[in-house]
Amino acid sequence: MSNDYILETRNLTKHYGGVHALEGANFKLRKGEHIAIMGDNGAGKSTFVRQITGVEQRTRGDVIFDGKPVNFVGPLDAREAGIETVFQTLALADDLDVPDNLFLGRELTKWNFLGPFRLLDYKAMHQATMAGLEKTGVKIPNVRNPIRNMSGGQRQCVAIARTATFHSKLTIMDEPTAALGVQETAQVENIIRTLKEAGEPLILVSHNMRQVFDLVDRVVVFRRGRICADLDIKNDDVTGEDVVGYITGAKTQAGFEDAA
Ligand SMILES: Nc1ncnc2c1ncn2[C@@H]1O[C@H](COP(=O)(O)OP(=O)(O)OP(=O)(O)O)[C@@H](O)[C@H]1O
Ligand SMILES: [Mg+2]
Repeated sequence: MSNDYILETRNLTKHYGGVHALEGANFKLRKGEHIAIMGDNGAGKSTFVRQITGVEQRTRGDVIFDGKPVNFVGPLDAREAGIETVFQTLALADDLDVPDNLFLGRELTKWNFLGPFRLLDYKAMHQATMAGLEKTGVKIPNVRNPIRNMSGGQRQCVAIARTATFHSKLTIMDEPTAALGVQETAQVENIIRTLKEAGEPLILVSHNMRQVFDLVDRVVVFRRGRICADLDIKNDDVTGEDVVGYITGAKTQAGFEDAA
């Protein structure tokens, strides 16, 4: 594989018993590229995300990340390798507060003047948390409350603040604004633009056509577990109506006839 790609999947497949949720996905993402994944409910989008990030073990196929075949054993493993993910069903720790969730697996420490071991640096984590949340625009009354007491939108913003706080090699967001109000959605879209300017690649799973056309260069469409279209929405003459046609199966693209 050429070094131009941050992520590639080959024949990526996931069956849940008789349910073929994902079938033979061949996918490539260039470094610095922002793409959207679209498709109807149940098309296999989140399944695809879960196979890449090691939430589940795939049935078959390969995942190549940053030039190397990978087989993550869980989302923290993927995160350590440089993939920051906002999951659709949010992978936050219910019993922890906001700063602890943000820094889960990458806690800041400081030298302890009493001895040769390091202490968790709560003050630095709190400050970084407030800075990250400010970028999402969400108001959380008390960040020291456990996550379980927060609304869906607040939880989503905590997960997004995490991606805005740490640099990663790849960010994946699975319907990040589904539970957000208009203002918070606009803020999250700004975070995505900032990632683009910084040259950090992104996979955005979204049902929101306006958002997709505003933010990304390319749309990959999933239908019934298969990739059925790969659309260059910046350079080609592709309209929102066309994308809907691929999503519903009314349109097919040459090379993807299997998925129709
Ligand atoms: N753990 C599971 N066990 C059995 N079937 C599953 C499981 N997870 C997902 N599926 C099935 O796999 C298919 C794809 O689901 P997936 O969640 O990937 O869809 P999606 O494209 O993300 O949809 P949405 O837009 O609603 O989020 C669906 O038919 C779903 O019912
Ligand atoms: Mg989904």
